[in-house]
Amino acid sequence: RKPLSLPRLADMHARGEKIAMLTAYDATFAAMADAAGVECILVGDSLGMVCQGLHSTAGVTLETMRYHTESVFRGLHRVQGTAWLIADLPFGSYHESREQALRSATVLMQAGAHMVKLEGGGWTTDTVRFLVERGIPVCAHLGLTPQTVHALGGYRVQGKGEEAAARLRREAHALQDAGAAMLVLEMVPAVLATELTGELKHCATIGIGAGRGTAGQVLVLHDMLGMNLGRMAKFVRNFMHGADGIAQAIEAYVRAVKDGSFPDDRLHAW
Ligand code: KIV
Ligand code: NA
Repeated sequence: RKPLSLPRLADMHARGEKIAMLTAYDATFAAMADAAGVECILVGDSLGMVCQGLHSTAGVTLETMRYHTESVFRGLHRVQGTAWLIADLPFGSYHESREQALRSATVLMQAGAHMVKLEGGGWTTDTVRFLVERGIPVCAHLGLTPQTVHALGGYRVQGKGEEAAARLRREAHALQDAGAAMLVLEMVPAVLATELTGELKHCATIGIGAGRGTAGQVLVLHDMLGMNLGRMAKFVRNFMHGADGIAQAIEAYVRAVKDGSFPDDRLHAW
């Protein structure tokens, strides 16, 4: 496989080939995900829960993100990986100013990231444009944005109802116009996610709990391996069922994303 790049991603998007994204936080899992055909590896700040035992992602620091991004990068390098490496900008690392966001993004890019992800719409649009103009590919993230879970009132569906949907749509279009090449849609109604996917020609939507109509899918690695300390979200599928091991489970995930059999829309008809 050839290494993934923005043009290749745009090509997959245009051809309608589903994009498989998975989180990884260390070298071994990153190498395994890459070998299994995962196109985009996300060093998500979900590592705060998965690795650090925090109750939300708000406690994850830039230094921690740098550490895990470096580990994942080394894992990919060991296997001459072809995956596109995305790293989350953690809470507080891009909120002060566009300049602060650039400094934080630089830390993650120097750690090996190809792209950074940041949550939210509205005020973040200027920040996205600022980073993209300076050569940093950006993935946006709308819907349930875990860094602001307290402001949202809990882990619940977003973009439900006409007003909320119109706002999410406005924000998504603005983020595309600002140059975001990817957009994670988390826990939004499948109909809305599908419509947005058709509307956004220059920004590939990646869904999690957003139905099967998006350009790609993402899951938290530990969730899809059936490893979870709390309650499993109902949109997650345990790919260890029927698999011979972790490598096979990740391969099954990639296959299911590619052939559209994951997710099953009946599991989250919101
Ligand atoms: O941190 C994370 O794992 C994420 C994905 C769930 C999109 O942001
Ligand atoms: Na995240």
